[in-house]
Amino acid sequence: MTNPRWVLASRPLGPVSEANFRLEQAPVPKPGDGEVLVRNLWLSLDPYMRGRMSDAKSYAKGVDIGEVMVGQTIGEVVESRHPSLRMGDTVLTPLGWQLYGTTREATKVDKSRAPLSYYLGLIGMPGMTAYFGLKEIGQPKTGETVVVSAASGAVGSVVGQLAKLWGCRAVGIAGGREKCDYVKNELGFDACLDYKAGALREPMKEACPKGIDVYFDNVGGEIFDLALTRMNLFGRIVVCGTISDYNSTEPYRVRNMRAVLVNRLRLQGMIVYDWKDRYGEALKALGGYVAEGRLKYRESVVQGLENAPRGLMDLLNGKNFGKQLVKL
Ligand SMILES: NC(=O)c1ccc[n+]([C@@H]2O[C@H](COP(=O)([O-])OP(=O)(O)OC[C@H]3O[C@@H](n4cnc5c(N)ncnc54)[C@H](OP(=O)(O)O)[C@@H]3O)[C@@H](O)[C@H]2O)c1
Repeated sequence: MTNPRWVLASRPLGPVSEANFRLEQAPVPKPGDGEVLVRNLWLSLDPYMRGRMSDAKSYAKGVDIGEVMVGQTIGEVVESRHPSLRMGDTVLTPLGWQLYGTTREATKVDKSRAPLSYYLGLIGMPGMTAYFGLKEIGQPKTGETVVVSAASGAVGSVVGQLAKLWGCRAVGIAGGREKCDYVKNELGFDACLDYKAGALREPMKEACPKGIDVYFDNVGGEIFDLALTRMNLFGRIVVCGTISDYNSTEPYRVRNMRAVLVNRLRLQGMIVYDWKDRYGEALKALGGYVAEGRLKYRESVVQGLENAPRGLMDLLNGKNFGKQLVKL
């Protein structure tokens, strides 16, 4: 039996290409003392993976050349030398882009609570990012206006729906009419602006007649710059991601920083792992909303590990529609 796995073959300069990855056939590893051997069923693809392919300084170490690409998976324990996990358990793991792997860091998930893939999306890392970013950094109050970019995606779709559940006006920004229709009509946002349809300035004014109190930024660049100009006094900006810049070799230079001073804005970066001690709280809250049918969710599924690089490239180009996953 072999273990197909994708390793990083080279570091991309600009957009990612298939040539940056190499598919290898390795032996299936044996679990050491305290470890489980897991057969992965789902692999999560996330924008942060682009950062890990680079060796620039960041909040986490990059993947080395020749090392298996990082990523969270949901899988089944096929052999256990772990004190509390048994064969047949379903687990969340950090095993990355491979079919099998051994780890001590597997967390058992409850199959009866939600479809397994949800543990990588709505009630997993992206959902928690939305929950803690909005609640703790955005601190929205009833009646305020919350704007979120990449609004149809894994994080953005949850941010806007939580904003509505917490009594706010929710305005999304997304690329293309189909995504905007989904955000407004299916997810229940008050408005969604299509940044690919032309200048956003006037549509943003119209959609946010009382200005913006919380901007949850997933994209950076020009959209961030424009949102700065519509922020209300003492507004909060959650800097969650800058995906418009991930493939660029020249970072975007912000023009409207003066708005931070004039409007006494609070601008704070967020990394979801800073809230790891409170994941239980988010799981309970998000799981509760899912059970009540109050959170909707959509996935983009690529079939087979061999298509993982294509899935990541699609995600970075906005071809995904909802949480990007690979079904193994
Ligand atoms: N800080 C943290 O702890 C944390 C955790 C998770 C995610 N994030 C960040 O949150 C953001 C969203 O992540 P996600 O997992 O939810 O991904 P996602 O929104 O499901 O997918 C990425 C989306 O980004 C949009 N996009 C791509 N290129 C763009 C560009 N040039 N300009 C504007 N939008 C662009 C595309 O949507 P459109 O088609 O609408 O453009 C694409 O569908 C990313 O920046 C990610 O790095 C941060």
